[in-house]
Amino acid sequence: MSTDYTFIKACWGQKTDYTPVWLMRQAGRYLPEYMRVRSKCTFLELCKTPELAAEVTIQPIDFLGADAAIMFSDILTPVEPMGMKLDFVPGPVFEHPIRSMADVKALRIPEMEADVPYVIETIKILRRELAGRVPLIGFGGAPFTLACYMVEGKGSKDFAHIKKMMYGAPEVYAALMEKITEMDRQYLNAQIAAGAQAIQIFDTWGGIVSPVDYERYILPYTTKLINGLNRKGIPVIHFVKGAGTMLDSVKKAGADVVGLDWHLGLDRARAILGDKIAVQGNLDPTVLYAPKAHIEAEVSRILNENVDRPGLIFNLGHGILPNVDPENAKFMVECVHRLSGKK
Ligand code: CP3
Repeated sequence: MSTDYTFIKACWGQKTDYTPVWLMRQAGRYLPEYMRVRSKCTFLELCKTPELAAEVTIQPIDFLGADAAIMFSDILTPVEPMGMKLDFVPGPVFEHPIRSMADVKALRIPEMEADVPYVIETIKILRRELAGRVPLIGFGGAPFTLACYMVEGKGSKDFAHIKKMMYGAPEVYAALMEKITEMDRQYLNAQIAAGAQAIQIFDTWGGIVSPVDYERYILPYTTKLINGLNRKGIPVIHFVKGAGTMLDSVKKAGADVVGLDWHLGLDRARAILGDKIAVQGNLDPTVLYAPKAHIEAEVSRILNENVDRPGLIFNLGHGILPNVDPENAKFMVECVHRLSGKK
């Protein structure tokens, strides 16, 4: 039963024998095993080949001893079948970004079984291969973060195009966000139907607006998405980077677990979020560049900030960085387990 997993219990805020831990972006370039697989194909080919995607998903479970696996894919894979040609160079690039109502109208909502069969198949393989070991997390981008890439066409420092649309053409922005939210709802429900045992929503760029604009332009869509998921028995983790000053708003989206970056201590975050919501985080990812004694001290500090409350999933405050020494990542996982009393 997936309810017996330490990670799943912690998501529900239940007492566990030790603190479960996984790392955002735990499958990736810092692992030599990943680079071996990746050297034979492009990143998108890897996402679209279920046997390979399953293989790299399991690598960090074997190597790190993490308590949960996250399906290997990208937040942008379901956007391509909406009608947007996608490339990774290595950052994501869309050839024709969304800039007008006509562009929004031309987007289609994919048929999940037909358009992203590789995602469904990857989950099915992983459930078989991980059975009895660790639970499987499915994931998607939050509507706003997906919209950022779709409108900017690539990563951005100032997010000029999406802000211009948000403030200058609010009807285009709203139509786009509605369409993405519906795509996301169907995409994440397809992952749940295929066997995902938890869902994480990544809002990497949710913190680039003011708290007032977060409530106006982002929260309504994330809330609608979370409410539209077939959540029975499936915890939903909501990670918003840069949201330390607006956790009271993030709380309203209604997730079971809130993912935290490293800008706010767990004690203060939990005081805002209350006892009914579990938390995930929040080690600064650059701490994995530090000597082991510093890594251990930081893990210990974070566990102490949680003051033995149930409902903590240890993680980094954002994805693991590509040039981290894999041994340091493994040591961090070992510290979490040892210091939280794993036998
Ligand atoms: O966590 C995991 O191990 C599962 C896999 C996963 C990837 N991307 C693989 C990936 C997950 C959960 C993501 C999420 C994702 N993708 C986010 C949200 C989380 C975050 O980090 O903020 C975002 C914003 C993206 C979009 C994206 N994909 C960017 C900006 C990049 C380029 C930056 C980079 O790290 O190279 C990617 C590429 C990407 N996604 C890689 C991997 C392993 C590197 C591709 C390669 O092998 O060349």
